[in-house]
Amino acid sequence: MKTVITDRSGIDEAVKLIQEGEVVAFPTETVYGLGANALDEEAVQKIFRAKGRPNDNPLNALVASKKALYMLVESIPAYVDQLIDVFSPGPITYILPSANKVATSVSANLPTVGVRIPNHPIALAILEQSALPIAAPSANVSGRPSPTTAKHVVEDLDGKIAAIVDGGATNYGLESTVVDCTGEIPIILRSGMITANQIESVVGACQIAPHVTANSHKYKHYTPDVPLYIAHSEMEFNELIQKETSNNNRIGVIVPYKHYYAHKSIVKEYILGNQEEEMAHNLYDILRSLNKSEVDIVISTVFPSPIIMDRLSQAATTVK
Ligand code: TXA
Ligand code: MG
Repeated sequence: MKTVITDRSGIDEAVKLIQEGEVVAFPTETVYGLGANALDEEAVQKIFRAKGRPNDNPLNALVASKKALYMLVESIPAYVDQLIDVFSPGPITYILPSANKVATSVSANLPTVGVRIPNHPIALAILEQSALPIAAPSANVSGRPSPTTAKHVVEDLDGKIAAIVDGGATNYGLESTVVDCTGEIPIILRSGMITANQIESVVGACQIAPHVTANSHKYKHYTPDVPLYIAHSEMEFNELIQKETSNNNRIGVIVPYKHYYAHKSIVKEYILGNQEEEMAHNLYDILRSLNKSEVDIVISTVFPSPIIMDRLSQAATTVK
C-alpha cells in the first residue's frame, strides 16, 4: 500500500480515508496516534495488523467532546465528571464501563472502554469533521518507542497504512495517563503528565496500580536496537564502564547534559535534559536513535522524574 504523507492541508483527505474504513496516523499532544473508525470492526482490525499488536491489548478511543465521550460509556462516577472538567481535553484516558458502541476489538472483549479527548488542533479537527469516535493507539510497531514525529511513524509504518498527517513534533512526547474509573476511587494504570497528586487534588483520592509501582508491565515496550542499562549510582556507572570497556564495546550514554560523565570509552552522548518537559520531549527520539552502527551498548543515568524512569526502565535490557 502506498502511504500518503501530507500536512494539515490533508485533513479533509484523512477524514475521508477514516470514514472509508482506512487507517491514518496523526499527531496528538502526547504522541502520534494510529486512527481508525472505532465503530467499524474491520477498520479497527487494520490497526492491530499494521502495529502487530496483540489482540488482547485494548485500544483507547479518541473523541472530540465530553458529550461524545458520554455516548460511548454506560455510566460515569461523579468524580470522572470533575476530572473531565479539569483535565480534558488533555493527556488523560478514562477507563469506564462500555456502552458497547465501539467495535468489540477496541475493548479487546473487556466490559470497559478507554476514552480520551485529545488537545491538539489536528486531532480535534479530524474528530470533529469525521463525527466519529476514533480508535487510536500510539502509531508505532508494537514494542517500539511511541512516535513523537511523523518521521518516527514513517520508520515504523510506511507502506502499511493509508496516510500520515505530519503536524510536527507532539507537544509532550509521552503517552497519556491511563486511569481506571470503574471503581470508587480512580486508579492509575499508566503514568503520564497528569499525576496521582493532581488527580487527588481534584477528587480527594487516587491510587496507583501495583504493576505501575513495581514496573511489571504486561507487554514489552520501547525496546531500543542496542542493549540499554541503567546505572543507579556513579559507582554502578563506573563498574558498567569497566566491564563494557573490557568487552571492547563502544559505549553510549544517556545523560542530562554534555560531559555529565567523562570517560574515554564513551563514543556517544545522548542528551536527555534535566527538566521533565524537556526529557519527555526528547526520550523517544533518543531511544529510536540508538543504533548498532554507532554504539554496542548504552548506559543511562537515573533522572529525577518518575514518568521518565517508568519508560526508561521498561526500555532497559536488564535493570542493573
Ligand atoms: O496518549 C495516548 O494515550 C496515545 C495517543 C495516541 O492517544 N495513545 C496510546 O495508545 O498511548 P496505546 O494503545 O499505546 O496505549 C493505550 C493504553 C494501553 O496501555 C492499553 O492497555 C490501555 O491504554 N487501555 C485501553 N483500553 C483499556 C481498557 N478498556 N482497560 C484497560 N486498559 C486499557
Ligand atoms: Mg503504545
